[in-house]
Amino acid sequence: MREEKKTIFITGGASGIGAATVRYFFDKGWNVCFVDTDCMKAEGLLRSLGKPKEVSFVPADVREHQALNDAADHCVETYGDLDAVFANAGVHLHADILSTSFDAWQRVIDINLKGVFHTIKATLPHLIRKGEGSIVLMGSDQSLIAKKESFAYGASKGAIGQMAKSLALDYAQENIRVNGVCPATIDTPLSRRVLQEYAQRHYDGDLEKVMALEASEFPLGRIGEAEEVAKAVYFLSSDASSYITGTLLPIDGGYTAQ
Ligand SMILES: NC(=O)c1ccc[n+]([C@@H]2O[C@H](COP(=O)([O-])OP(=O)(O)OC[C@H]3O[C@@H](n4cnc5c(N)ncnc54)[C@H](O)[C@@H]3O)[C@@H](O)[C@H]2O)c1
Repeated sequence: MREEKKTIFITGGASGIGAATVRYFFDKGWNVCFVDTDCMKAEGLLRSLGKPKEVSFVPADVREHQALNDAADHCVETYGDLDAVFANAGVHLHADILSTSFDAWQRVIDINLKGVFHTIKATLPHLIRKGEGSIVLMGSDQSLIAKKESFAYGASKGAIGQMAKSLALDYAQENIRVNGVCPATIDTPLSRRVLQEYAQRHYDGDLEKVMALEASEFPLGRIGEAEEVAKAVYFLSSDASSYITGTLLPIDGGYTAQ
């Protein structure tokens, strides 16, 4: 039996893990509506997909609630329904507390946490109206463990773990499942920037060397690929995970099992 066409709303869909997820869901036959602040990258992604009507992009900053409300409404008007949400947009900051200015702290908290707050507020009513749905929040291995020099980022991702559990409890009766994905280092523009800065500071800019050192940290002996996260988001968004809610799923090559 052919399944009805489903629709997912993705934030930060223009690059890295978000872009891999847009592509993966499209390939699986879903409608995808994604938001991002980077219109150039979003256009590039749409072009590479052949500008299909099943994928639409709305420029929006996750810090702005009206922009997200409008984007969610656009999604439902375009595709008729909403089945899943992936709150993915986020930024990284490598710094301990004394090296973190208040503005830098505020930016991480605004994008990584306020952004998720607005994303859920804008989309959850559509899922409730439908009577079912799945939400996946982008956590990190730092939703589960702490890392050095990661004060603001770790705080934001730790809180996202709690948000996933809290939402799961509050909306289970509405038949809405909420889970978090917790990747370790995944090869994206974000992680390349972080590793490049680290290489600059400690290894004369030798990114190759830092990438190899980073890979050796993981029991599976390598850094992850964006599509490996997309596949987990797909599993958590689909009926294959119908009895799974309130979980934080490590996608980390075994890192947090150590
Ligand atoms: N790459 C990793 O190693 C890794 C590991 C664990 C968690 N994560 C998380 O995965 C998510 C995606 O990261 P990525 O590695 O794909 O990074 P990325 O920089 O490649 O992509 C992030 C996307 O989010 C968008 N974005 C940033 N701020 C935004 C805002 N205010 N409003 C709308 N869009 C915004 C960016 O324009 C970009 O397109 C982040 O939440 C990150 O914390 C990444």
